Amino acid sequence: MRIVITIGGSVVIKAYEHQKFQEYAKILSSLKQDHQIFIVVGGGKPARDYIQIARDLKAGEAHCDDIGIDITRLNAKLLIIALGDDAYPSVPENFQEAVAYSTSNRIVVMGGTEPAHSTDAVGAILAEYVKADLLVNLTSVDGLYDKDPKIYDDAVLLEKISAQEMWEFLREKDSKAGTYEFFDLTAVQMIKRSGIKTVIINGDLPENLLKVLGNHKIGTRIV
Ligand code: UTP
Repeated sequence: MRIVITIGGSVVIKAYEHQKFQEYAKILSSLKQDHQIFIVVGGGKPARDYIQIARDLKAGEAHCDDIGIDITRLNAKLLIIALGDDAYPSVPENFQEAVAYSTSNRIVVMGGTEPAHSTDAVGAILAEYVKADLLVNLTSVDGLYDKDPKIYDDAVLLEKISAQEMWEFLREKDSKAGTYEFFDLTAVQMIKRSGIKTVIINGDLPENLLKVLGNHKIGTRIV
């Protein structure tokens, strides 16, 4: 299968340490035997910290996004280091480069591309671009809930949702640099128009990636 995997910065760099990069590298290298893998890494707290400094310096939103993109690319570089020879050694800055690098038969790892969306959108666009069989979004919650699980104890995990319903659900949310909420609207638009099979799962346990590829019913499927 050709798989695009987005790994949230809040998953891979929750703290400033290397462990999660190492854990993911191990699993991704094992998947490389049977699948063509593209990874998009998010910015997490380091991106938000840097964006805040830029904002305090009165940078405009697009400029703040640009700072965020740089941090996502740094995180991508860390994952490339962790993957060693299994990864293409450079971070593609656009989709054409990602495709070109994939001809090496190595795992391609990228970060953001341009302002005004998050790496979720990059993953969805890349999935469309490379005609991926599956898009997996690894985030820091178990999937999409009917309301915020950090606030409401009775929030229910949605096992599946249509792209249209998800679009309506997310429409009201914030979209400033560093705060593209749970999943951004551009990503949902792309999934809607191309019908890419998409699963959102909790990435805090890297083994969940193996579960989802083994067809276990976890997370939220966008249908
Ligand atoms: P993320 O995709 O990590 O956004 O990119 P996020 O919503 O903050 O997600 P987590 O916390 O990693 O899960 C970090 C920031 O970089 C900019 C945006 O400002 C985003 O919030 N960015 C990223 C872009 O402007 N364009 C991109 O293609 C990617």
